Amino acid sequence: MKRPLITAEDLQQSPDMVIPVGARLTPLAQDLLRKRGAVVRGRGAMPLARRLLIANWKSYKTVGEACEFARALGERVRPPTALQLVICPPFTALATLGEALRGVAELGAQDLSPHDEGAHTGEVAARHLLDVGCSYALVGHSERRAAGEGDALVATKLERALAAGLRPVLCVGETAEERAAGRAEAVVSTQLGRALANTRPTDLPRVVVAYEPRWAIGKGVTPTSAEIAGILGHVRHSLRQMAPEVAERVSVLYGGSVSPDNAGEILALEDCNGALVGGAALDPVRFSAILAAGS
Ligand code: PGA
Repeated sequence: MKRPLITAEDLQQSPDMVIPVGARLTPLAQDLLRKRGAVVRGRGAMPLARRLLIANWKSYKTVGEACEFARALGERVRPPTALQLVICPPFTALATLGEALRGVAELGAQDLSPHDEGAHTGEVAARHLLDVGCSYALVGHSERRAAGEGDALVATKLERALAAGLRPVLCVGETAEERAAGRAEAVVSTQLGRALANTRPTDLPRVVVAYEPRWAIGKGVTPTSAEIAGILGHVRHSLRQMAPEVAERVSVLYGGSVSPDNAGEILALEDCNGALVGGAALDPVRFSAILAAGS
C-alpha cells in the first residue's frame, strides 16, 4: 500500500492531526511540525505537546476594542506561528472576535459553567462556547479561585469542557504564604490531582496546565527561571505518574507577569510549552513581541 503523503497545508487545516505510522512528510510539513515542538526523526514524526501562547484579557476590551486588537495583530503576525495563539476575551466579544482572528489565533473562554444548558441564570455553558467557535476554556484561574471557586467545582468544569470537546486550560499555583512555607510543589500537585481525578488518560492530551503562582499575577514580579523550571518539571513529573504514556503530550505553560522582557528566557525552559499572559496581552505590539521572543 502507498504510504500517505502529508503536506504543510494538511497540517494547517487539521492542527490536531494524528500522523499515521509510516506516513511521509514534505520538507515544509516537517519544518512546521518542528516549529510546533514535535520530534521529527527521518521521515516520521511523534507529536508532542502543542506550544501555546494564550492571552487572558480578563474584564478588558469592548467588542470594538477587541476587533482593533485583531486587526493590529493580523498585521504583525505571519501564520503559521511557532506558538499557537489563543485569545480569551470577555464572553461578549467571543462571537465577533473569532471571525476577526480567523487563521491567526484560536478562541478561548475565561470560564465556563459547571452545568449544561438549563435554568442557570448568568451561566455560559460549554455548548454556547462551541457555538461561537471556542476551542479552549480557562478553568480554575486564580482570580476565580479567590472569588470562592474550590477544587471540586474546578474539576466539574474541567470535565464539562472535555466532554464538550473543548480544551480546558487548568490553572494551578500557590499563594505567597504557601510559597513562604515551602509548600508550592505540594499545593500544585494537590490542585492537579483533584482537578484531574476523573480524567481518563486518553483525554489528558487535550488538557493544558498553566502554572500561575498567585503572587506573581499582575504584580510585575516572577519567580526566577530556576524556580519556574523546578515547578514545571514537578508538574510534568505529576502528569507522568498519572498517565506515563501521554504525559509528554500535555502542554504545560507558565503564567504570571510574562512580558516581552522575560518571555525569551521563560519560553526556552525545558518543560515549558508556552505562556498564559494577562496584562501584556492587551497590547498587540507587546503580545506579538512575546511571540517573537518564543519563536
Ligand atoms: P498577568 O496575568 O500576565 O497580568 O500577570 C496572568 C493571568 O492572570 O493569567
